[in-house]
Amino acid sequence: MIQQKAEILNLSHPSIKNRKKDIVDIIIKAIRRREIQASLNENEMHLLIDEALTNAMEHGNNWNPKKVINIKISVDHTFLHISISDEGHGFNSQDPSCFREVFQPRGRGLHIIKQFCEPSWNKKGNRIDLKIALNYH
Ligand SMILES: Nc1ncnc2c1ncn2[C@@H]1O[C@H](COP(=O)(O)OP(=O)(O)OP(=O)(O)O)[C@@H](O)[C@H]1O
Ligand SMILES: [Mg+2]
Repeated sequence: MIQQKAEILNLSHPSIKNRKKDIVDIIIKAIRRREIQASLNENEMHLLIDEALTNAMEHGNNWNPKKVINIKISVDHTFLHISISDEGHGFNSQDPSCFREVFQPRGRGLHIIKQFCEPSWNKKGNRIDLKIALNYH
């Protein structure tokens, strides 16, 4: 069992829509390679990471390929930590209006993210930290 927080990925990538799936795959593979027993299956993990990545590239970096997103993944003995930051102005994550009705055509990403993990943001709102529980045997 890993006792201390160990970094397993640190990746920067330009904000390009059709590269998004490749980036999610890189992340999933990095987690799989370490044989990390997350409480989410790979499909759930895929959906969660995709929503966070999309928000960073879309709202943060306006799909500007000159602007990068940075992904850091680490693991400790209880959680898998995935942090995704962008070069945008951020947003007020404390404002309840960010969490729109789940039935609206947009505004589903944060609902999906909250369904799967405990998200938190830096003060500016341009970095999301996803904390995913690990399974114990
Ligand atoms: N990285 C970010 N930078 C700036 N604003 C953000 C960021 N992430 C989320 N937001 C704000 O939070 C709102 C809600 O995000 P959410 O993912 O729930 O919905 P959406 O991205 O607008 O639509 P959907 O995800 O359903 O396509 C966004 O509309 C945006 O205003
Ligand atoms: Mg979204």
